[in-house]
Amino acid sequence: MTSFPDSRLRRLRVSDPMRNMARETRLSVKEFVYPLFVAHGSGVKEAIEPMPGQFQMSIDVLSEEVGEAAELGIPSVLLFGLPAEKDPLGVEGYDPEGIVQEAVRMIKKNHPGMMVVTDVCMCEYTDHGHCGVIANDRIDNDQTLELLGKTAVSHVQAGADLPAPSAMMDGQVWAIRRALNDHGYDDTPIMGYAAKYSSGFYGPFRVAADSTPQFGDRKSYQMDPANARMAMREIEADISEGADIVMVKPALSYLDVIRQAKDRFVLPLAAYNVSGEYSMIKAAAANGWVDEKTVTMEVLTSIKRAGADTILSYHAKEVARWLKEAE
Ligand code: PBG
Repeated sequence: MTSFPDSRLRRLRVSDPMRNMARETRLSVKEFVYPLFVAHGSGVKEAIEPMPGQFQMSIDVLSEEVGEAAELGIPSVLLFGLPAEKDPLGVEGYDPEGIVQEAVRMIKKNHPGMMVVTDVCMCEYTDHGHCGVIANDRIDNDQTLELLGKTAVSHVQAGADLPAPSAMMDGQVWAIRRALNDHGYDDTPIMGYAAKYSSGFYGPFRVAADSTPQFGDRKSYQMDPANARMAMREIEADISEGADIVMVKPALSYLDVIRQAKDRFVLPLAAYNVSGEYSMIKAAAANGWVDEKTVTMEVLTSIKRAGADTILSYHAKEVARWLKEAE
C-alpha cells in the first residue's frame, strides 16, 4: 500500500465523472417497492397528515397512482387496506371481496405489468388493533396462523404476486406456505417481514392505516430494538419455514442488522424504510432544516450500502424522478 504523499485519496474526488467512476453504491428504481393505502368509496384521495405526499385512495384513484408509478419505472407496489368495518377477528382481511383483494384485481386488470405485494396482517382489520386474534387476554399465536393463511390465499386468488406476512407470529411463513400449497399455489413466493422490530417509527403509519392498538403495545410479538442476534434467529426461522425473500424493518436504525443478515444469508434481502423515517425527512425539509433530496438519497443509499437488495419506501416516486433527472 502506498502512503502519503504518493497516495492522495482526494484525487478520486476531483470531478463528477471521477466521483462516478469511484462510486460503490448506486440506486436504481428497479429495486423499489412503493407502499400504498387503499380505502372504500370512489374519488377518495385523503391526505395522510403526518406523511406529506401520501394518501388513502379509493380504487379508482389508486389506479391512476399505480399508472403513474408504472410510468416512472417503479416495478412493484405494496398494498395496505382500510376496511369498511373493524371487528375482533378482522374478517375483511380475508374476505375475497375485501378492499385489498378488489384493489389487487383492479391493478392486475389495468396495469398487468405491475408486481403486487400484499401486507398479510390483521391490525388494520381488527377493532382492537392488534396483529392477531385475542384469546384469554393475549394475542393467540396459533389461532392467528390460520387466519393469516386464509388472508394470503385470498390475496393470491385475487392475483397478488408476493404475500408478505408482517404479524410477527411464530410459524406465520410456515402457515402461509402450507395454505398456498394446499390451494395449488406452490409457485407463489413469500416475503417474510422476518426481523420486524417494535418501533416508534411506525407512528405515522398507524395514523395512515388507523391501526393503533387499542390497549397495550406490540412488544409481545415484535422484536426488542436492542437485539441483533435475535434478528438472525428470526430470519433463520423464516427461511426454514419457506420464505423466499426476508426483510429487516425499520431500515435506518437497523443498518447493522441489514449488514449482518446480508453477510450471513443468501436470500434476497429487503429493507423497509418506514413511515417515521419518511415523516422525519418531510418535517425537517418543510422547515428548511435539511435539504430534502440530499438527505433522502443519502438515507436510501445507506440502506442499499448496508446490504438491502430491495427497498420498500414511500419516497419511491420522488426517487424515480430524481434518478431520471440525473441520467
Ligand atoms: C402491519 C404493518 C405495520 C407496518 C407495516 N405493516 C404497522 C405495525 O406493525 O404497527 C409499518 C409500516 C410503516 O411504518 O411504514 N403490522
